[in-house]
Amino acid sequence: MNKSALITGVTGQDGAYLAKLLLEKGYRVHGLVARRSTDTRWRLRELGIEREINYLDGDLADACSVQRALLKACPDEVYNLGAQSFVGSSWDQPVTTGIVDGLGVTHMLEAIRQFSPQSRFYQASTSEMFGLIQAERQDESTPFYPRSPYGVAKLYGHWITVNYRESFGLHASSGILFNHESPLRGIEFVTRKVTDAVARIKLGKQRELRLGNIDAKRDWGFAGDYVEAMWLMLQQEQADDYVVATGVTTTVRDMCRIAFEYVELNYEDHVVIDPAFFRPAEVEVLLGNPGKAERMLGWTPKTSLESLIRMMVDADLVRVAKE
Ligand code: NAP
Ligand code: GDD
Repeated sequence: MNKSALITGVTGQDGAYLAKLLLEKGYRVHGLVARRSTDTRWRLRELGIEREINYLDGDLADACSVQRALLKACPDEVYNLGAQSFVGSSWDQPVTTGIVDGLGVTHMLEAIRQFSPQSRFYQASTSEMFGLIQAERQDESTPFYPRSPYGVAKLYGHWITVNYRESFGLHASSGILFNHESPLRGIEFVTRKVTDAVARIKLGKQRELRLGNIDAKRDWGFAGDYVEAMWLMLQQEQADDYVVATGVTTTVRDMCRIAFEYVELNYEDHVVIDPAFFRPAEVEVLLGNPGKAERMLGWTPKTSLESLIRMMVDADLVRVAKE
């Protein structure tokens, strides 16, 4: 019998790549989708899998809807990727962020505990929980110090996952993933904002790019590599927590330099610093140590930042040219 999986956040960047990976492995894929007034399936369309998913109505803020979806799907594996995932918006919508990214995890775990305790569970935790970093390279034992309502909500989601594993013996794992990007990244995140602008500037449709703190440093990887780590976590006999990262950190400034240079432009001619994009509290630097994932899961990142940015610029050049 083929395995089945329920993915919350299936219309997001990671949800789309994970759905593709699981379909390729022969899974039946169910996707929890919250009602929206606009079309949110563009990523699944771009990957050519829109029609291969069984969509189930549900919102992580609504415990009953989550229970219903779980009962309909009867999944072997549950990947909880749904979230208000934009750090910047979490100061404007702190309560929604807390309900969806924090309590939403409990809704999912409670549903599993009551109705499907054999289902394995993956929680999309984040390096944003390290925030004001307490060690130069962050790993599974580094203390957390979140710096945004998003980071605080995700920290609750992380600990409730650990707690349900320890309290009820659920196979519940938390992946502490560092930033990962792709051509399917939302336009509000800095890498995609940059690659989209690079394409527009190159094609004469835009002149400047307004950014905030370009001295911030991130450990950026490719989303397509990272969803493999999620799947590997749920194939282990014991559930556990893992850092997933590249072990390389780069400033936003250097990421811009790479993107502009790829199309023979100089970022300094186009980037304008705009305080409107500064955050009330910043995570200045993130640098992960993926040693445990390498040792226990046999996972290593395959894509360099340079090739990732080139892939994103190429995709945006095609999109912008078609407009
Ligand atoms: P994303 O592209 O923003 O996708 C988020 C998904 O969550 C979308 O499908 C969205 O649906 C869905 N969603 C939002 N609110 C919901 C709700 N109330 N109920 C059900 N679904 C809801 O994010 P991503 O980059 O794929 O990230 C996936 C997960 O990993 C998130 O939990 C994120 O916080 C976490 N994470 C991401 C990174 C990263 O660098 N990408 C790193 C660490 C952790 P709509 O399409 O309808 O809005
Ligand atoms: N978005 C954005 N827009 N960020 C900017 C800008 C800008 O104009 N200018 C500078 N930055 C800086 C931010 O201040 C931050 O330091 C860095 O670029 C990265 O910002 P984002 O791309 O928005 O990502 P993030 O690190 O805040 O959050 C992402 O990674 C987390 C994992 O560490 C998201 O994917 C989260 O969901 C994820 O958990």
